[in-house]
Amino acid sequence: MSEIASIRNFDQFRDAVFAFRLPRILLSAIELDIFTVMGRTTWTVRQLANALSASERGVEILCRNLATAGLLKKQGPRYRASPLAQHVLNANSPTYRGAYLDLLRRQWEDWSHLTQAVKTGKPVDDKEPETPEYRRAFTWAMHQRSIESAREVASQLDLSGARSLLDVGGGPGTYALAFLRKNPQLHATVMDRPAALEVAKEIADSRPQRARLHLYPGDLFTTPWPQGFDVVWISNVIHIYSAAENIRLLRLAKQALNPGGRLLIQDTFLTDKEGLRPAEANLFAVTMLLFTETGNTYHVREVLAWLKTVGCTSQRLIKLKPGTGDWEGVIVEGSAGKRRGTSREPRPEKARSSR
Ligand SMILES: C[S@@+](CC[C@H](N)C(=O)[O-])C[C@H]1O[C@@H](n2cnc3c(N)ncnc32)[C@H](O)[C@@H]1O
Repeated sequence: MSEIASIRNFDQFRDAVFAFRLPRILLSAIELDIFTVMGRTTWTVRQLANALSASERGVEILCRNLATAGLLKKQGPRYRASPLAQHVLNANSPTYRGAYLDLLRRQWEDWSHLTQAVKTGKPVDDKEPETPEYRRAFTWAMHQRSIESAREVASQLDLSGARSLLDVGGGPGTYALAFLRKNPQLHATVMDRPAALEVAKEIADSRPQRARLHLYPGDLFTTPWPQGFDVVWISNVIHIYSAAENIRLLRLAKQALNPGGRLLIQDTFLTDKEGLRPAEANLFAVTMLLFTETGNTYHVREVLAWLKTVGCTSQRLIKLKPGTGDWEGVIVEGSAGKRRGTSREPRPEKARSSR
């Protein structure tokens, strides 16, 4: 997302508050399932209102706004869905991202309780327990969220020297599969909760990489980790936990590495001096306040220091090509010392040493 402009006068304050209007319009369109109903057909407002069992007045105003946002094309009195809406927002399309849309839709209500979360420091969504059903739906949403970014990350990270990778909290296995696709010599193990790994299995079963993918059910804090990996990949996990919990996780990750192994952490990181930018990293911390007991987002400085604390011999930042990868395309790497009997290096990714 783009950076947030500073608010310097009341008009800018009002506009910033009113920015909730478009998100609310988009969520109502999803709740009405308007893009599935429209499919690839052209509609008058009256036809569409009938099909949606909604008022003509409401549908006319909604459609005008969706057309302004580029999700509908308007031709005189008729509307049709844009190519994007016909694919990812249409339940009859094989590329529909319904699980992720559902996750977004349900956040509106939870975000309305932010004031309470700020007061208590506790998540608001305690009606949503950790059930297998919830975990399945969430894991599908994670897959739909990261299909493109996983491919981009896999294409830019050089794992050609690795034979084994552990994807910690790998959920649907989207990243593990992307790494396997790019690196035919690699075997990958996804460690996550059993319900998440059921989804990973369903996704992987139709892929040629399945034979090189291993699923390891367990809890990251209580199940002994598998050992002996050239790479440990931790994507979008550290924001769920506190600094102290993350140091525990990184210690376990470091222990799971072979000598010379690489610990790679992907997340949304703060990168500026004061810890205010990128804006997305701070906005996402609010999501963690609303939905987790101890989660937050962290400055790259802090994560690099954790890696040092757990005994990584060097630490660095890998920057992906601008506009690619997950979040802002920053990956934090720690190294588990030198590989026995070899002096491999350097790797061609664009890297900046942290010291
Ligand atoms: C936000 S998702 C990220 C999924 C994937 N790594 C990605 O980047 O798209 C976090 C994952 O970590 C898993 N996870 C978090 N805490 C865990 C724990 N204590 N034990 C096992 N898995 C855990 C969740 O089940 C979930 O699949």
